[in-house]
Amino acid sequence: METVLILGATGNIGGLASERLTAHGGVRLRLASSREAGLATLAERFPHAEIVQADWNDELSLEKAMRGVSRVLVVTPDFVTDEQIVTPNIIRAAKATGSIEQIVRLIAIPPGLTAEKLTQRFLDTRCGANLHVIAKPLFDASGLPMTYVNVPGWIMFNLPWFLAPEVKARRQLAMPAVTDAERMWISEGDIADVIATILTAPAADHVGAEHMLTASARHDYPAIARILGEELGSEVRFVDDDGPLRDAMGEAFDTLMTYFEHETQAYGGVEHSETIAQLLGRQQESVQDYIKANRELFV
Ligand SMILES: NC(=O)c1ccc[n+]([C@@H]2O[C@H](COP(=O)([O-])OP(=O)(O)OC[C@H]3O[C@@H](n4cnc5c(N)ncnc54)[C@H](OP(=O)(O)O)[C@@H]3O)[C@@H](O)[C@H]2O)c1
Repeated sequence: METVLILGATGNIGGLASERLTAHGGVRLRLASSREAGLATLAERFPHAEIVQADWNDELSLEKAMRGVSRVLVVTPDFVTDEQIVTPNIIRAAKATGSIEQIVRLIAIPPGLTAEKLTQRFLDTRCGANLHVIAKPLFDASGLPMTYVNVPGWIMFNLPWFLAPEVKARRQLAMPAVTDAERMWISEGDIADVIATILTAPAADHVGAEHMLTASARHDYPAIARILGEELGSEVRFVDDDGPLRDAMGEAFDTLMTYFEHETQAYGGVEHSETIAQLLGRQQESVQDYIKANRELFV
């Protein structure tokens, strides 16, 4: 049986992907956290998985975590990751291990965007594409067997994360209007299902592939507010207010606002493809489906 290592298993996507892989069976799961508290959380949530400490700033800990592993999933967090350190460490550890048949990496890069096209001010945000345009060329040049899951849109967990509290309290979708754009929204459940599908297929089926996950519709904030109102049965208004985002982001707020200056412009040209439906053999989740399924988070 193959062993799959998840780097980022305590996170949103890594955790959901671990759940999907647990439900699927047929692979041995090795789940990593860099923190003691993270290890305890993983042990409780995934009692049948092997739990390991690994810090991607510490190459030796990665080498130990990758011993005997054939597949790896890597999901790095926004704002804090120095991909110039983290990605070379992962690459060196994977090469030293010698048993890696596939590394799946979550990225978010609109087609054609490279680090050379981004100013240092945007790269310094270490958010979204600014992370991934650093990591991807390093992985590409490594010769390791890579599969990319590219999500050039918003993940639907942003709804409960920083939009739901105001919807609950005041029936308002409160965001700074300057951050609005017609965005594609992709559910975390679909992303996790795609990752689990890739990691349980023969490695050769997806090595060398970049799967771009998109949505057939684009929604700006007023459209999301309208859908929320329809699904919840009472009107939700969009209001131009940066307070709730400021509260949710804390000291990352200014960095995020810088990131939005680029992000609101850069993803408009992404074209939709039926990749999710083709990989999963079912329709992908719409914003309407997501709000319906998670209604209790918004009322
Ligand atoms: N929000 C969106 O709309 C959107 C859209 C497209 C793409 N994305 C991308 O999604 C990614 C974020 O995904 P997510 O929300 O699932 O991430 P997340 O919840 O922030 O999880 C990040 C993971 O990184 C791990 N980690 C942090 N420091 C570490 C270290 N030094 N060594 C090893 N592991 C470490 C954390 O584990 P421990 O702390 O337990 O070690 C955690 O499991 C970003 O790359 C972002 O660009 C987001």
